[in-house]
Amino acid sequence: MKYDVADVSLVAEGKRRILWADNDMPVLASIRKRFAKTRPLKGKNVAACLHITAETANLARTLKAGGANVALCASNPLSTQDDVAASLVKDFKIACFAVCGENRSTYYKHIYAALDNKPVITFDDGADLVNELHGRRAKDAHRIIASMEETTTGVIRLRALANQGKLKFPVIAVNDAASKHLFDNRYGTGQSTVDGIIRATDFLMAGKRVVAAGYGWCGRGFAMRARGMGAIVIITEVDPIKAIEASMDGFAVMPMAQAARIGDLFVTLTGDKNVIRGEHFRVMKDRAVVANSGHFNVEIDIPALKKLSKKIRRNVRNHVDEYILKNNKRIHLLAEGRLINLAAAEGHPASVMDMSFATQALEAEYILKYKSKLAVAVHDVPMEIEQKVCNLKLKSMGIGIDKLTPEQVKYLAAFGEGT
Ligand SMILES: NC(=O)c1ccc[n+]([C@@H]2O[C@H](COP(=O)([O-])OP(=O)(O)OC[C@H]3O[C@@H](n4cnc5c(N)ncnc54)[C@H](O)[C@@H]3O)[C@@H](O)[C@H]2O)c1
Repeated sequence: MKYDVADVSLVAEGKRRILWADNDMPVLASIRKRFAKTRPLKGKNVAACLHITAETANLARTLKAGGANVALCASNPLSTQDDVAASLVKDFKIACFAVCGENRSTYYKHIYAALDNKPVITFDDGADLVNELHGRRAKDAHRIIASMEETTTGVIRLRALANQGKLKFPVIAVNDAASKHLFDNRYGTGQSTVDGIIRATDFLMAGKRVVAAGYGWCGRGFAMRARGMGAIVIITEVDPIKAIEASMDGFAVMPMAQAARIGDLFVTLTGDKNVIRGEHFRVMKDRAVVANSGHFNVEIDIPALKKLSKKIRRNVRNHVDEYILKNNKRIHLLAEGRLINLAAAEGHPASVMDMSFATQALEAEYILKYKSKLAVAVHDVPMEIEQKVCNLKLKSMGIGIDKLTPEQVKYLAAFGEGT
């Protein structure tokens, strides 16, 4: 088996972390148990470009239990947990090509290594595999039955491709499933972004002005958690509906130009580019902290920050670069503008990834079953899968809910029965 990981001697710690995460992933574990019996993915080659974390390892184990030959590569050069990668290879015999801190050329070398597995199903977090399958590796696209997309930015890229009429195979917008984004993006990114910032800086949230750019699922999760820790949270938005929601949820809402003057900590969670720019850095307070939790590191205009700086002190603390501006103010940029929750913390808690990855695993089974009916388009996850994942999760949480009575079913379906 071919692989490329940083250090196989980290295997024991990696296994401990994978099994620990598995304790909090009961839905995925129950699917793995069933897959081991029914083998719905038997003999299918799969490539997955995901954050190489303990939770992803448990997804890979589940796909393997279902009979798939899995090859993994990283969806971000800084998010790989090297111990997990070692255990995947040594303990679980799953091919993994990922090294934390890998440079751009190694990152792509690893993507190609995963594609060399000749996948019929791919999993992406940010659409990098699909992008290659429409570009330099277009020759491999004919094999793909369908591809799954885990994150908002990936779905946006894929919809753009579909709208241009260029999409070559069906893709599934796993991110858009309620069983994914309502929990993963909101509670997962919310908590782990706070975690990453605190681990990187030892920042005290209480009493600080924290600016969250974007009030989508990730933004509102982060804003909620920062407020819970006593921060005075300010939201910036471009969407008037989200801005009203943020305001009525009790947050201050203002343009970035105004927020830049008063914020102590800035976090971008938009999926957009250049949300914090030169004009904003110029008016920030001394020692303002700037981080990104959106998918790409383009949310912060780092070239503009470099231009404004007379000196850059790298790694003044792990994951912190200090930019000393020509006006003598210092800006602390975290994790080179890459996803702070994965670079400086451990990404989303396993308990929330349980639902996202259970949705992924069931969807893989589904597309093999219904492949002849899948048009070349961006598809939603079917409601039956969402319901199944949520029912299994509720069961694992020991929570029961009510069922509609036959009378209620009739009442809700009938028009005009109001008495
Ligand atoms: N850190 C993680 O682990 C993680 C997890 C899930 C998603 N993501 C990524 O986070 C990003 C946001 O995801 P989401 O699900 O919240 O998306 P979303 O579409 O729900 O929300 C994005 C919000 O940003 C706003 N926005 C866009 N441009 C803006 C600008 N210039 N200024 C202020 N607001 C702006 C939009 O109006 C929208 O409300 C995406 O890139 C997604 O891929 C990261």
